[in-house]
Amino acid sequence: MYRIVLSMAAALSLIVSPALCGQATVEKEAPAKKEAKKPREPDVVYVPTPQDVVEKMLQLVKVTKKDLVYDLGCGDGRIVVTAAKKYGCRAVGFEIHPERVKMSLENVKKNKVEKLVQIKQEDIFKLDLSKANVITLYLLPSLNVKLIPQLEKLKPGSRIVSHDFNMRGVKPDKVVKFTDKDKGTHTIYLWTTPLKKRAKKKADRPKAAAAATP
Ligand SMILES: C[S@@+](CC[C@H](N)C(=O)[O-])C[C@H]1O[C@@H](n2cnc3c(N)ncnc32)[C@H](O)[C@@H]1O
Repeated sequence: MYRIVLSMAAALSLIVSPALCGQATVEKEAPAKKEAKKPREPDVVYVPTPQDVVEKMLQLVKVTKKDLVYDLGCGDGRIVVTAAKKYGCRAVGFEIHPERVKMSLENVKKNKVEKLVQIKQEDIFKLDLSKANVITLYLLPSLNVKLIPQLEKLKPGSRIVSHDFNMRGVKPDKVVKFTDKDKGTHTIYLWTTPLKKRAKKKADRPKAAAAATP
């Protein structure tokens, strides 16, 4: 009997002693293994904008020191690096492909613009663009259109410049033809916010809306 009482007391002391001593014990869960973030495939392949076209784009969009430039799909980071080096502005390059992110980071370092330029591995379609006032694009016409809802949230007076591709349904302020040093021809499109949306043609409108209009 004496032995039973002793062993019960020992067992009880094991259960209650930490609380009695004022040391709450919290069962620590084993940390969940972090799944490596697998980026999805890029929506368009990497083709760099020739350097003289980059400079023309930044000149046409009138970058100043006060601007915050976002390049959506920044490739090797040449647009954001050039913007920071030439105009002294802040710039952020967004890129989904890990190899391109690496290239951009090396480019930033090589050009010593770490204080002005950030490179972020992100999907451009998930970004809040409202802090930027200059957006640079070299994507595809369909991707430019897909970006419209995000671009509409830019502050009024923000500028957008696109290499070679327009944005169906939005009237550009300016379209400039440019020949690079290797005689390649490029078209540069410029827009200012608020975007000037073109009225939808009758054929583009949903049937119900068209039927309601006399
Ligand atoms: C045609 S390159 C342009 C590179 C650079 N802006 C330039 O003009 O030199 C397009 C870049 O967009 C990147 N890209 C494609 N889809 C993307 C997405 N959803 N989010 C972020 N980057 C993307 C590609 O990996 C590629 O580097």
